Amino acid sequence: MATTEVKPGKETVQPVTYTSKAFAAHSATSGLAPFTLQRRDPRPEDVQIEILFCGVCHSDLHQVRNEWSGVMPTVYPCVPGHEIVGRVTKVGSAVTKFKVGDLAAVGCLVDSDGTCPECNAGLEQFCQNITLTYNFPDKHLGGITYGGYSDSIVVKERFVLRVPGNLDLAGAAPLLCAGITTYSPMRHWGVTKGKKVGVVGLGGLGHMAVKFAHALGAHVVVFTTSPSKKEDARRLGADEVVISRNADEMNKHAGSFDFILDAVAAEHDINAYIQLLRRDGNITLVGAPDKPLPVAAFGLIFGRRSLSGSPIGGLPETQEMLDFCGQHNITADVEVIPIQKINEAYERLVKSDVKYRFSIDMASLRSE
Ligand SMILES: NC(=O)c1ccc[n+]([C@@H]2O[C@H](COP(=O)([O-])OP(=O)(O)OC[C@H]3O[C@@H](n4cnc5c(N)ncnc54)[C@H](OP(=O)(O)O)[C@@H]3O)[C@@H](O)[C@H]2O)c1
Ligand SMILES: [Zn+2]
Ligand SMILES: [Zn+2]
Repeated sequence: MATTEVKPGKETVQPVTYTSKAFAAHSATSGLAPFTLQRRDPRPEDVQIEILFCGVCHSDLHQVRNEWSGVMPTVYPCVPGHEIVGRVTKVGSAVTKFKVGDLAAVGCLVDSDGTCPECNAGLEQFCQNITLTYNFPDKHLGGITYGGYSDSIVVKERFVLRVPGNLDLAGAAPLLCAGITTYSPMRHWGVTKGKKVGVVGLGGLGHMAVKFAHALGAHVVVFTTSPSKKEDARRLGADEVVISRNADEMNKHAGSFDFILDAVAAEHDINAYIQLLRRDGNITLVGAPDKPLPVAAFGLIFGRRSLSGSPIGGLPETQEMLDFCGQHNITADVEVIPIQKINEAYERLVKSDVKYRFSIDMASLRSE
């Protein structure tokens, strides 16, 4: 992390930067390979973090392969990663919440305008002027932002979270996206004791959803396409497990759910789940398949059911979720990998072959 002072030019003031090791994709088909990038030296309100672990979200894969080209086209080189946990190595003069040596975490957001009604309400995820952790215009250095598949990152203090000291760090990293993305809609839709809650897709997001719904006291039913995950689902907190390709098993639950969280990353039939909702029940999509999902109107009309989506969460709720995890000792079930195995991990992610989140040990970057 050598610091290079860039002398201010005559017209423009060049920011002071330092180099950071990373892994980047250079095209939709290149896979990821070693890459060196520039980070800004911390400004007064910035926190510099040495990244210890970074979770591997299916969104990283969608983005790297430009599968969301219609909504968020990928700019290459692309350094993904938005499930970041590490240790503070430097703080700017205006930073008050963090000091060198503290644990710190960063999720999907690294900036917003801080002034709009959404930001004032702590719902930064809905701000019209957000900066995502990667593949978003970088206000400081130009170009685009680079994510957590890297040894270090510099982030405005407002977007840095505190990590409860009792949590395993490799398992805590995925809380920053998989955790908040499932916790937030469950809180919004009132998942509590006595509610019947479905979780569709037992992947990174899905397995966190099961843990949260169980901890919130709900009766939890997991819908999976993978019979081999049945036992795990119960261990993670499911009261019942349904193999979703079995229509008879599905029909037994018709009209009975208060809330269903759909965390599937690929095309699938959501109508099969809409008809499982009771009157006024809600199904929320957090999974983001690249192709549109057809919806049968009558499934929603009969029963006044609703279909929603939900993106990540704001900063206060993300901290609340981390603190909740600290109290309940909740982390993701992770398979820790060195960064050199990332392309293999992506291939396995496509096949739903991960139990239940890859977490990259960034110490492995040092040998690059
Ligand atoms: N809304 C947000 O803010 C947000 C945040 C993060 C991620 N996401 C999105 O959420 C989705 C899930 O992410 P993830 O990291 O949890 O992915 P993941 O670990 O790959 O899990 C997805 C799960 O979906 C199920 N699945 C996969 N292919 C399927 C198919 N063809 N039909 C039915 N089920 C299938 C599998 O579960 P089973 O084996 O149990 O069937 C798989 O484990 C991705 O699209 C991601 O981009 C959204
Ligand atoms: Zn994510
Ligand atoms: Zn705002």
